[in-house]
Parts: sequence; structure tokens; C-alpha cells
Amino acid sequence: MDICTDVLIVGSGVAGLYAALNLSSRLNVTLITKTTVDECNTYLAQGGISTARNKQDEPLFIDDTLRAGVYKNDINAVKVLAEESMDNIENLVNYGVAFDLCENGYEYTREGAHSVNRIVHCADETGRKVFEALWASVKKKKNVTIYQNTELIDIIRQGNICCGSVTISNGKILNIHAKATILASGGIGGLFKNSTNQRTVTGDGIAIAIRNNIALKDLEYIQFHPTALYEVSPHKKRFLISESVRGEGGKLINSKGERFIDELLPRNVVANAIYEEENRTKSPYVFLDISAMKGEFIVNRFPLIYSECKKRGIDITKQFIPVTPVQHYFMGGIQVDTFSRTSMENLFACGEVSCTGVHGANRLASNSLLEGLVFSRRAAKFINDNIHSIDIKITQSSLGLDEVQELKRENRSLAINKFKLLVEDKADELVSC
Ligand code: SIN
Repeated sequence: MDICTDVLIVGSGVAGLYAALNLSSRLNVTLITKTTVDECNTYLAQGGISTARNKQDEPLFIDDTLRAGVYKNDINAVKVLAEESMDNIENLVNYGVAFDLCENGYEYTREGAHSVNRIVHCADETGRKVFEALWASVKKKKNVTIYQNTELIDIIRQGNICCGSVTISNGKILNIHAKATILASGGIGGLFKNSTNQRTVTGDGIAIAIRNNIALKDLEYIQFHPTALYEVSPHKKRFLISESVRGEGGKLINSKGERFIDELLPRNVVANAIYEEENRTKSPYVFLDISAMKGEFIVNRFPLIYSECKKRGIDITKQFIPVTPVQHYFMGGIQVDTFSRTSMENLFACGEVSCTGVHGANRLASNSLLEGLVFSRRAAKFINDNIHSIDIKITQSSLGLDEVQELKRENRSLAINKFKLLVEDKADELVSC
């Protein structure tokens, strides 16, 4: 089947949903998602969203982002991120996100490498609350049609112009012809045996970019979160113990109860220190000790972490939490400018699939949802202003279901083989093709 739309959005995380909300209501928008809309990494985000607290905090926020990123960041993109942060947080509040408040306003929390508390949050379920608010608003939009269980397989192109996508929708080929296509298909965590990501997030956008010679950037920058709950259950999504637990005072200790690192250093530094400590003590995990916090505070501030650990037999108000680093985030991706434009005409990328350069070599904690918001809105604005000048020729695809299934298999091996080469030292952490 073939359909035509003005704008195709691939992905239902924060970047995909927020792009849909920021596109003009006059445009016909089609949003596809690989499984169900809520099976996205946004839904899992715990810690919160970074934001400049006020105009004076912007330069400090920029400095913190650059320092965490080992100064490999794109400075212009970082400035845009900081300068547009407060406005986008305000928008989320208008969409109904109820961030935790205290008597002075937002109850900002802290995470590694932030020099001040500047993270807004909804207890430890910020991603789910943001997803629910955005999704409730998208559902009301008459100009947006949603296709679930619809997997991106390839783009349709004429030379270097993107004209839509080939997908498999509920087992059948669906060709979606679009004047503008926004890839918001997420990162690569599903390619790793141990990751906090949804297992379905398997670098599809990256594979398609490789096949179509779309410029990629910083593919070797892969982030390992220091503290996932240690469990012996191969290839299952790892449960995150948010960095905000350390921000609120949690301490990392080894099996002898000794601290071995400042818990609020940048993520890469803390993750490496844990790997070293695990090797030194010949243990597959270290502990997070939150015994200095009151039980009531823990249950109210971290209800999700409390209940998920309880289900697994750990009462975090009384016991240490066994933690270990796992793959968490991909700083690299499809190279984009500050309007999320890729090297292919009419193709945009935002969220984790893209590389704006804001994160440099190591993302500052809680900058991912913010990046998704800021740069998907900029993509939407650019499209609103320019779509009138786009005219695509519809060409019928001659691919059969077998050939499209073959492309799907090729996507997986393209992505895995690329990352095998790039992360030689961690190649055995990747799943096989
Ligand atoms: C966390 O809560 O530790 C994750 C936040 C992030 O990945 O920025």
C-alpha cells in the first residue's frame, strides 16, 4: 500500500511527539512507531530534564555541558540548547507536565557534573510523565495519524532528496511518501546485551543512513551509565538506578564498605572507576548506599526505584543496592545542523538518532530529553516555514515483502558490524547479527 503525507515522523519518544505538536495544524502529519507508542526510551527516563534556572545560569549550564563532553561538543548547538531550555520546560508545563515543586518554585535536583541543582523532575518517573502529557496532546490533533507496529526499513529517495519511507506495517509493506521526513527513531541500546534501553531500539536510523550515504558523526561516543541494577538475566533491559539518587546523597561503596570515587563526577569518569573497582575486587558489581536518607524520603522521592527493587527482593530503605555500568546512551548519530537538517534534502533527524554535537564525547546527565525538545521544535519550525517550496515526485516502489524483509535483516547487520569496528574493546558486549 502507498500513502502520501506532508510530514512523516518516525518514532514516538519525546522528539517525535514534540515535533508533531510543533508542526502547523495545517499540515498532514503521519507518525509511525515500531511497536506501541509507549515502547520508547523517553518513557523510561527517570532523573529529569536539565534547564538553565534563569538567564544568569545559562553560561554555567553551557560550561557544565562542555566540561562533561570533554570539550568535543559543538559550541553553537550547546548555546542553543541552554538558551532555549527554559522556554521548552514552560511548554511542557503548559502541556500538563506537573514537575515537582517546592516553596520557591521547581524542586531542582542535581546529577553528576552539574555545578548547581538545575534538573526538573517528576519524582523518578519524569520520562513517563512527559510522554503521557505529550501523547495526550498528540492524540487530540486531527491532522496527525498514528501507525503503531510500523517499522522503518528504508527511506525512499530521488538522488539526495528524501521523499518518504518504506515500512513494514503490521506485516505488510506500507510506502509513505512525504515532503519532509523526521527521523526520531532513537539510539542503539538494543544492540547491546546490557543496556537500560528498550530492546527494540536497535540503531535502525543509523543503518539506513549508512546504506544511503547520509553523513554520520561521532559514532564512537557511546555512554555507559554507572549505576544499573546488577541482575543475572541475559539480554533483558537493565533497570536504571537514577543518577539523581547520587545527586540526593547516595554513595558508591565496594564490598568492604569503602568509598572509591566522588559520585558526582561526569558519568564516564564514575563508570570507569566502577569498572576498575569491580576488576580490582573481582566482583561483578559495587554497591549504592543510600542509608543516610530517611525511609520516607526514599519512598516519596524514588517511588519507582523503591518498588522495582522491592519486586526483586531488595528493600532500598534498608539494604545496599548492587549496581554496575551498562550501555545507556549514544552521543553520536546522524549529523544535523541546529535545525535538525541532515546531509540529505528534506530529511531531518532529532533526539538520540541525531548528532547535534551538544553532548560532545560524554553527555551531561539529563540533557537528553532537553535535546529532544529543543531540536525537534526547531525542525518543526523549519518545516512549517519551508514546506510550501517542497514538491516531491511519487514513484511507486517495486519491492516485494521478501526483499523488504531482507533489507530489515541487512539493517541489523549494518548497525552491528559498524559498532563492532568502533568499540573493539567492548565488541563482546554487542548482540550478534
Ligand atoms: C538518570 O536518571 O540517571 C538518567 C538520566 C540521564 O540519562 O540523563
